[in-house]
Amino acid sequence: MTILTTQKITEVWPEKFDRFRDLIYVPLDLPPPPNIDVNKFIKWVSECPNINEIIRCPDTGEKIFHFEEKGKQAWGYFPWIQVNAFHHGFSNDWIANFDKIFPEVVDYINLFPFNSLSGVTILAQKKSDIVPLHQDPDDWLGMRFYLKNEIKHDALYFTPTLKRLNRRIGTYKFDGEKVHKQDWQKYLDLKTKLYAKHPIPEHAWCLSSIRAAHGLDPIYSDEFSRITVLVQSHKNKDDASAWNQDKLYDLLDRSLQKYSDYAIWWQNPNDRLQG
Ligand SMILES: [Fe+2]
Repeated sequence: MTILTTQKITEVWPEKFDRFRDLIYVPLDLPPPPNIDVNKFIKWVSECPNINEIIRCPDTGEKIFHFEEKGKQAWGYFPWIQVNAFHHGFSNDWIANFDKIFPEVVDYINLFPFNSLSGVTILAQKKSDIVPLHQDPDDWLGMRFYLKNEIKHDALYFTPTLKRLNRRIGTYKFDGEKVHKQDWQKYLDLKTKLYAKHPIPEHAWCLSSIRAAHGLDPIYSDEFSRITVLVQSHKNKDDASAWNQDKLYDLLDRSLQKYSDYAIWWQNPNDRLQG
């Protein structure tokens, strides 16, 4: 496995991926994730270092997660319990023995079509908190799976952009050191909420943060009743091949054939109104 020390988000993918550019969400044609012992997982989380406080950019000394820190300030709270099983800037190994404790999960992560892994972030939504509209700093598509999901109702929704954008708007506006919430009404069709449907409770999926923002309704079950894993592969500044493009194309193609009824696509808002 290649370990990255710098990363660059690739929002623009090669032309052969053009047919997927309006895709906002689709379940992935991958097997169901392995079952895990949630108590063992919670114990691992308790032993996991808070790398937000540890990682600093080698060039500037700035905390790598400064964006999230500003995000917390902008939102006033952070609706997730967030831990990292792997982070390109932290070490060249899995964090807190994740690979030794959950080898079956690492095997599963290796089914994703990356050449080089840059991060594995794990999120559990805090009880009763909403997750406001936001965009994730993925490549064109972000890869996810639910390691655990006991939430029966649809909670993840997408609000599409008004125009067919090619760049992420960004969740925040920065004014020097000040952070402001994004003026979503300028960019998003705020009347529309498109809920993700799941073929089975625990499964893999992908989403776009370019032509939609997403949010989550509150859940009232215990924390860790839904555990989301983000598989990240951003290219190194000198390496354009973080994703294995052939495998990625094949996976998206298969997924859209298998899960066409679940796929959410960007549409012109006027077309959507006309049904
Ligand atoms: Fe997100």
